[in-house]
Amino acid sequence: MVPSRILVTGGAGFIGSTVIATLLKKPSTQAVLNFDALTYAGNLLSLQEEAKDPRYTFQRASVQNLEEVQRALEDFQPDCILHLAAETHVDRSLNHPQTFLETNVLGTGILLQATSTYWESLPLEKADTFRFLHVSTDEVFGSLGDSGQFHQDSPYAPTSPYSASKSAADHLVRSWEKSFGLPCIITHGSNCYGPKQFPEKLIPLMILQALNGDSLPVYGDGQQIRDWIHVQDQADAIYQAACLGKPGGTYFTGGGQEQTNLLVVETLCRTLEEIGPFVESGFYKKNIKFVQDRPGHDYRYSMDCRKTQLDLDWKPHYAFADGLRETVRWYLNNPAWVKSIQTGEYRQWMDENYGWR
Ligand code: NAD
Ligand code: TYD
Repeated sequence: MVPSRILVTGGAGFIGSTVIATLLKKPSTQAVLNFDALTYAGNLLSLQEEAKDPRYTFQRASVQNLEEVQRALEDFQPDCILHLAAETHVDRSLNHPQTFLETNVLGTGILLQATSTYWESLPLEKADTFRFLHVSTDEVFGSLGDSGQFHQDSPYAPTSPYSASKSAADHLVRSWEKSFGLPCIITHGSNCYGPKQFPEKLIPLMILQALNGDSLPVYGDGQQIRDWIHVQDQADAIYQAACLGKPGGTYFTGGGQEQTNLLVVETLCRTLEEIGPFVESGFYKKNIKFVQDRPGHDYRYSMDCRKTQLDLDWKPHYAFADGLRETVRWYLNNPAWVKSIQTGEYRQWMDENYGWR
């Protein structure tokens, strides 16, 4: 079923804003409601072009507020909900776990409660095609060693307050599906990179630190491995899952491009030397600093995405080096966006997080 009236929670965030841009490129999309609380991670400058589209509406509201969610559902009458709103940064979850419980667990529960009431009120043919798509992460399955992959039936084994709160949200989604029949789909994404990502995550943090001539803090020995996917590939996967995903289905949307953190940072240094402001050779690399490891740091994530790629007729297109180059170029060419997130709160976060190193 191709959705036409889509409510996106967390649409002002990194992946959400790319999902909204992707939806608005589809002629089948009649209306998109961006339902976002605008926390530190939400930025309406990420949607400047999309905001000009008459099919797009923004509502500043929280998934934790039952009345706001109910009103949005009644007024907007979505045929699909893409739930991306969340607290998303592992380091932040170590310092401020409560907001992760409130947003990711309670917020998802409240959204499900309101959605199932709304869904039950729909005429049969609309209820049949309605979809609730919850965007989850590979991190809920815990940490792998040097070999092996997560599979659709891998057990949950979260290790951080972030991944535990996302796991709890996944369980709530499945419970609403089993108990009330709500047609739910879950996607598990791997580490995303690309334009418009808040610079607390590895890649944008390193780009901005490097451009500022600051040190590049690599946790531990930098040998941990993440599977990187470009945000556009992730957004396309989410759209395909909304169209083709089966209620009860679990889809693995990974990039299939595993890299150690150190290699990512070194590639980034080289890319900046090539396309950034002129510096002498090795300028950025010499700023790499091995710092105290993240507590409970997961070693490796990797998902077997073959079934998802077949089921959703989707596969990632970006090669990591190309995507990284494009990402660096975006941060170089968008100083206004960068300036907009370098607020007092961002600085405060940097200070707090660098505190435990
Ligand atoms: P982000 O941190 O960039 O954005 C989160 C958005 O949610 C922000 O716009 C914020 O304002 C909004 N939000 C937060 N609390 C809210 C609330 N109570 N009500 C309404 N809106 C609220 O996140 P992202 O990186 O775009 O991630 C989106 C989703 O994808 C999350 O659920 C995340 O767990 C998942 N995910 C992300 C990645 C990744 O690498 N970024 C990987 C896998 C899964
Ligand atoms: P991050 O972008 O925070 O994503 P996640 O923890 O969800 O995987 O971190 C990616 C990897 O980079 C992770 O192994 C931690 C590491 N990392 C650093 O080495 N230094 C940093 O400053 C940050 C933010 C992350």
